Amino acid sequence: MPDTAAFNDRMLSLGLARVSEAAAMASAKLVGRGDEKAADQAAVNAMRDQLNLLDISGVVVIGEGERDEAPMLYIGEEVGTGYGPAVDIALDPLEGTTLTAKDMPNALTVIAMAPRGTLLHAPDTYMEKLAIGPGYPTDVVSLDMSPSERVRALAKARGCDDSDITVCVLERPRHEDMIAEIRETGAAIRLITDGDVAGVIHCAEADITGIDMYMGTGGAPEGVLAASALKCMGGQMWGKLVFRNEDEVARARRAGIQDLDKVYARDELVTQDVIFAATGVTDGSVVRGIKREPGYLTTETILMRSKTGSVRRMVYRNPVK
Ligand code: FBP
Repeated sequence: MPDTAAFNDRMLSLGLARVSEAAAMASAKLVGRGDEKAADQAAVNAMRDQLNLLDISGVVVIGEGERDEAPMLYIGEEVGTGYGPAVDIALDPLEGTTLTAKDMPNALTVIAMAPRGTLLHAPDTYMEKLAIGPGYPTDVVSLDMSPSERVRALAKARGCDDSDITVCVLERPRHEDMIAEIRETGAAIRLITDGDVAGVIHCAEADITGIDMYMGTGGAPEGVLAASALKCMGGQMWGKLVFRNEDEVARARRAGIQDLDKVYARDELVTQDVIFAATGVTDGSVVRGIKREPGYLTTETILMRSKTGSVRRMVYRNPVK
């Protein structure tokens, strides 16, 4: 009975890592070639093929788009062999298509799996996000605070000066005021051109990345993926959907969202145990990018389980056929 099989996250996790690795390896030859679409398509194809080998009864809840927009890995697509636990799948076969095309840091292939009905069906809209790493009191910062209030509150909780805080922000015109306000506090800003899943993950390893807090508006689907990662690594996150027009409101309604103004805490974005895998496509601070050498491809994958808080980094060398 597929739907009643237990969500054996321990056994499923290695399979999930393989899915993520396959997508990264498929996009390897497209790194730095200026073709975002081809890189994304290669990753999508490989991720789907590998996902369909898993003994799961999976449904894509965060995917490549709605059914009429995406031929593969669309929202609602059933994946897996159909024999196994009923699970939700959130994926981004290539998080950072432009980063890949330009060979810039922190492009990842990303996938998360959780029991059916436990990942927010985030529509393809924007989400205002705020994230910090582990070790802080609950709700020490919030989306209700202004950017400068968040910096001050975090610095106080860390016992440091405002100027010792580093905030990661997507470089976009919509963030100009926020960036100016953060700078007035004396805090540093790590601007990224794309890839806010990695941006959020950076908060969980502040000692390595130097990033204490992530804030700003990016893709809502990426918000659920980032929350999955933080649930495994520790850390707090909040997200609020942002709508630019009626079409986006309609997308949210179709996804079953009733309260359009709700602020989702991390554990409302991902309500139960989750497993998360991401493989580096280009070099970054989360994992190294794909290494190509004659006859071989080498990838690095981060594989995590929220049940145990375990974080594995796995290096995989595979002969190129
Ligand atoms: P793609 O991989 O689809 O190009 O998305 C990259 C990304 O930077 C995300 O990490 C982020 O959430 C989103 O795009 C931001 O959207 P926009 O480019 O419209 O500001």
